[in-house]
Amino acid sequence: MVSTDAQPPSSDYLDRLMRRRSFEALWPLFAKATRPAKEMTESYSALCHLRPLLTKGRPCRVIHVGDGAHARTGALFSLKSEADNISVDPLLNVALVEAWRDRFGVRRLAWHKASIDDVADQLNALPPMPVFVTFVHAHVHMDRVLDRLRWDAAFTLACCLPGHQLTQTRVPLEEGIDPNVLSAGRQYQVVVNPGAPV
Ligand SMILES: C[S@@+](CC[C@H](N)C(=O)[O-])C[C@H]1O[C@@H](n2cnc3c(N)ncnc32)[C@H](O)[C@@H]1O
Repeated sequence: MVSTDAQPPSSDYLDRLMRRRSFEALWPLFAKATRPAKEMTESYSALCHLRPLLTKGRPCRVIHVGDGAHARTGALFSLKSEADNISVDPLLNVALVEAWRDRFGVRRLAWHKASIDDVADQLNALPPMPVFVTFVHAHVHMDRVLDRLRWDAAFTLACCLPGHQLTQTRVPLEEGIDPNVLSAGRQYQVVVNPGAPV
């Protein structure tokens, strides 16, 4: 499926997020951003696009590559899905994210303050279950990261390095421009690993 840039920007994601009780817990993390609405809608785009593939009622894991200092996409998934989440970023602020997790009693959020290259083997050695990957404006080479990980489906949102942040070697299940993302970097793809049961 391909969506185009024809639609004007929409506040739909933000409105949906702000109407939910989980917004209270999300806000302290996103309030630290220079542009909270931009960050929230980018992370929520990942959830909205992967949610139809997440295995309801069955355990699954989501690895959030390049999740920044505040692990915001992992945090959002941990509040709004049943998945186990692992944020990976060498700049992750462990003290801040740990304090946030403890304050709101958040379960299902873990992290590695590391490059994805350094923890890929460790992640692949975790107990088998469906594995999803998000790349929300992650400054990594998506195809190379996926080549190293055990994964079933992935979501990517590109910003300044689309040649790296969008797949060049895989056929996306879905791609386009997400008008609900309130930033210039709105081009996304959903890719599914051939043979994955999702
Ligand atoms: C533009 S920031 C995006 C942060 C966050 N996803 C967001 O949208 O706010 C790009 C992030 O990619 C991270 N990054 C760069 N190389 C990485 C790598 N090899 N493994 C994991 N993260 C990486 C950077 O540390 C940075 O936090």
